[in-house]
Amino acid sequence: MKIMNVVWTCIVLISLVIVVSSIDEDRKVFIAYMGFLPEGEYSPSLHHYEILKNITNPRFARKSLIRSYQRSFNGFAAYLSQEEQQNLAGFDGIISVFPCQKLHLQTTRSWDFMGFPTTIERSPTAESDTIIGVIDGGIWPDSESFNDDGLGPIPERWKGECQGGTNFTCSRKIIGARYYGVEYSVRDMHGHGTHVASTIAGRQVNKASYYGLAQGTARGGVPSARLAVYKACDVDCNMRDILTAFDDAISDGVDIISISVGSNDPLEFTSDPIAIGAFHAMQSGILTVNAAGNAGPGLYTVTGDAPWIFAVAASNTDRRIVTKVLLGDGTILMGNSINAFPSSKEELPLLYGKQVTSECSENEASYCHARCLDGRLVEQKVVLCDENRNTDSVKVAGAIGCIVPDHGKNVSEVEPFPIAALNTNDINLVKTYQNSTRSPKVQIFKSQAINNQVAPIVASFSSRGPSKFISDILKPDITAPGVEIMAAYSPMASPSHTHIDKSSVKYNILSGTSMACPHVAAAAAFVKSFHPNWSPSAIKSALMTTAWEMNPNRSLDAVFAYGSGHIDPHKAKDPGLVYDTSKEDYHKIWCNISRSINATCHANLTIRQLNYPSMAAQVDVNTTFVVSFPRTVTNVGKAYSKYVASIKGGTKLDIIVDPDNLQFTSLNQRMSFVVTVTGKGIQLPLTVESVLLLWTDEDDTHKVRSPIVVYTGNTTNTTCSDHRASTSPKFCKNFLILFVGIIIVIVFM
Ligand SMILES: *[C@@H]1O[C@H](CO)[C@@H](O)[C@H](O)[C@H]1NC(C)=O
Ligand SMILES: *[C@@H]1O[C@H](CO)[C@@H](O)[C@H](O)[C@H]1NC(C)=O
Ligand SMILES: *[C@@H]1O[C@H](CO)[C@@H](O)[C@H](O)[C@H]1NC(C)=O
Ligand SMILES: *[C@@H]1O[C@H](CO)[C@@H](O)[C@H](O)[C@H]1NC(C)=O
Ligand SMILES: *[C@@H]1O[C@H](CO)[C@@H](O)[C@H](O)[C@H]1NC(C)=O
Ligand SMILES: *[C@@H]1O[C@H](CO)[C@@H](O)[C@H](O)[C@H]1NC(C)=O
Ligand SMILES: *[C@@H]1O[C@H](CO)[C@@H](O)[C@H](O)[C@H]1NC(C)=O
Ligand SMILES: *[C@@H]1O[C@H](CO)[C@@H](O)[C@H](O)[C@H]1NC(C)=O
Ligand SMILES: *[C@@H]1O[C@H](CO)[C@@H](O)[C@H](O)[C@H]1NC(C)=O
Ligand SMILES: *[C@@H]1O[C@H](CO)[C@@H](O)[C@H](O)[C@H]1NC(C)=O
Ligand SMILES: *[C@@H]1O[C@H](CO)[C@@H](O)[C@H](O)[C@H]1NC(C)=O
Repeated sequence: MKIMNVVWTCIVLISLVIVVSSIDEDRKVFIAYMGFLPEGEYSPSLHHYEILKNITNPRFARKSLIRSYQRSFNGFAAYLSQEEQQNLAGFDGIISVFPCQKLHLQTTRSWDFMGFPTTIERSPTAESDTIIGVIDGGIWPDSESFNDDGLGPIPERWKGECQGGTNFTCSRKIIGARYYGVEYSVRDMHGHGTHVASTIAGRQVNKASYYGLAQGTARGGVPSARLAVYKACDVDCNMRDILTAFDDAISDGVDIISISVGSNDPLEFTSDPIAIGAFHAMQSGILTVNAAGNAGPGLYTVTGDAPWIFAVAASNTDRRIVTKVLLGDGTILMGNSINAFPSSKEELPLLYGKQVTSECSENEASYCHARCLDGRLVEQKVVLCDENRNTDSVKVAGAIGCIVPDHGKNVSEVEPFPIAALNTNDINLVKTYQNSTRSPKVQIFKSQAINNQVAPIVASFSSRGPSKFISDILKPDITAPGVEIMAAYSPMASPSHTHIDKSSVKYNILSGTSMACPHVAAAAAFVKSFHPNWSPSAIKSALMTTAWEMNPNRSLDAVFAYGSGHIDPHKAKDPGLVYDTSKEDYHKIWCNISRSINATCHANLTIRQLNYPSMAAQVDVNTTFVVSFPRTVTNVGKAYSKYVASIKGGTKLDIIVDPDNLQFTSLNQRMSFVVTVTGKGIQLPLTVESVLLLWTDEDDTHKVRSPIVVYTGNTTNTTCSDHRASTSPKFCKNFLILFVGIIIVIVFM
């Protein structure tokens, strides 16, 4: 009997191992997207189960289904083998099937910088009736920035819930909370979500600073607006959680969605959960604002390129934070870093990485790799390194300061100990000085805020257009402050994102298109508070056509860096005219680009014909071209008004606007015109011709500005996304092992 027991146990264990490993290898999480929810009696999860029963082992089907999207659109996530996934793709009603991958998370001064002071005229009642859904890494509800003093009752139309998990309660400020990932609370452990949410709707908090740096009044763009927090990310974000967050946010009744998340490489609509979620949000009258990505400055890196997404680039403001370095010979250099540590009182010995090793070659050691650094040699010294990635090791080895190259980025990051990042010229100066004297010395000072004369410039990290998949659209749409932005932070998170930094702060300074996105979400909420009935595309148009003109000579790749320009929320309140796009037209674009969403799919509209506030066309090299952009504007300024068209800039393009003047006699009146662009001989590589179309009214109060861009280049190179599709996220795999284990226990019991 005993022996039989042992044998059985072994068989069970062995088969368990075999099954686990074979299923683990074969099956991955895929997302199946099914478009709109049908009208009438319909149980999505039952339907999803039925479908899975047909394409997979029926016994496995129930367990294989891990998510049903059923509140705002139709679809599901399930464990599937490659073969099952292919069968599923051909199934009736399935629009697309794609692998579940990871997406990434990509002050106060910034609001003043764009002419949006605390004293700006507001519509407080309407503002506090605005609900912003933030899909991110949660929130720190105890931050002073989220106090609900003086806020009225929660808007009655709100259909969401407070399911914040462990130790989380909502308030009149944070009115909704849901989480999906691995952490069992909406509490933010990484800081990003808190930063983003407070940039949108943080209350006014005086004397906020990061260790005295950037001191001022911290505030969001719409301090009275409500927040609904959807925690779909921890360090990264799982696609299936992002889709669930959209599914919930749309049905809960948010007005605007802010999502500072994206993939490193652009994805096609049909396999991009943000494009899918935002499409259904737009069909429900909700504008989605999305970070354009931090993959710049290369071309074709922009994400959020669907026309129903508002894609935001990041630029700097007139405040920069820099770190001063004094060399022993009296030379003063300015470094890019945020160093909150008190200035060193005296000059400290400076050593080059190659001098502080007993293990490595000089060349290797100059990069300051952990294994090269000799603790006895670096102790109490400042170390000069040829790489900025190994600074943690330098601190761990015992150095008290570090000088590194900034690799051409004019952006300062919070550092865990005194670091100065210098440009190539200055690094060479330091090297020459270091080599020229017997006992080189250096002093690193606490960072200081300085006035930056040349702002705004789009940051080099900000992703650039053109869109990889849609050639005739100008993306990103707009730019907003995203460099060295101070906002609330989670006290649980390391301010410098390093495990060696155990400090805890209430406010922190971050950079990224992640920081620019919430500025635009807040600006959109501000505009909506004056025009509650405007469509998502009208609000987007208002912000685009009133944007500040950027200087094309300063930002690398000009229009492909900043789109229509820099947001000006105050101006956007009164744009004069808007380019309003109908839900049906967006639907037609979806149909043109992908497979039909439903039987009533009309694909007879091209992107050039879409009523978009900017105009772009890719044309053939060296040939004569004629491109037309039909557009319709709606009068939202004065009932009786006359607008005249003019073209600014550019000499190579011949542009005709027909008609070139529009006479309105009532509000909300719509009038159409066609812009025809003729040109010849644009050459490779990617050459861009851009001009501005201006509609100006009689007393010059409104200038409605649209960039017109014609360029050569190719956009249909998908090698990158194919490559990405073949990698499976680790989390999905680990989760699978766990869940297969559960099934087997059930089967064998
Ligand atoms: C098809 O799409 C239209 C347009 O958005 C939508 O109104 C309709 O409900 C959809 N029909 C079905 C059956 O999904
Ligand atoms: C699954 O297959 C059965 C029989 O092959 C069929 O009757 C049923 O309609 C299929 N279910 C779905 C959802 O297509
Ligand atoms: C909830 O979190 C706050 C902030 O970290 C902490 O002060 C408090 O003790 C926690 N409460 C419980 C019951 O864990
Ligand atoms: C960084 O700033 C310097 C000085 O303002 C400027 O010359 C340079 O072009 C900037 N680099 C980038 C990538 O913006
Ligand atoms: C340092 O100085 C020595 C001698 O003066 C010279 O040979 C060497 O090339 C210098 N190294 C650097 C990096 O300037
Ligand atoms: C950009 O540079 C061109 C050529 O140097 C110059 O003509 C133009 O005025 C500059 N534009 C701005 C806005 O400074
Ligand atoms: C989609 O638009 C293109 C032009 O951009 C057009 O040639 C094509 O016919 C359209 N597709 C469909 C299915 O109508
Ligand atoms: C597209 O098709 C629809 C339905 O057939 C029609 O009403 C509409 O006028 C067409 N639009 C264009 C631009 O051809
Ligand atoms: C375009 O024209 C230029 C000048 O005429 C020529 O040098 C170039 O090779 C042409 N490029 C292509 C792709 O035809
Ligand atoms: C197309 O793009 C690839 C890289 O994305 C580039 O190497 C190639 O030269 C481009 N071809 C043309 C015709 O522009
Ligand atoms: C895509 O890139 C490859 C090289 O990576 C190139 O050979 C190919 O021509 C490109 N495709 C297009 C459509 O330009």
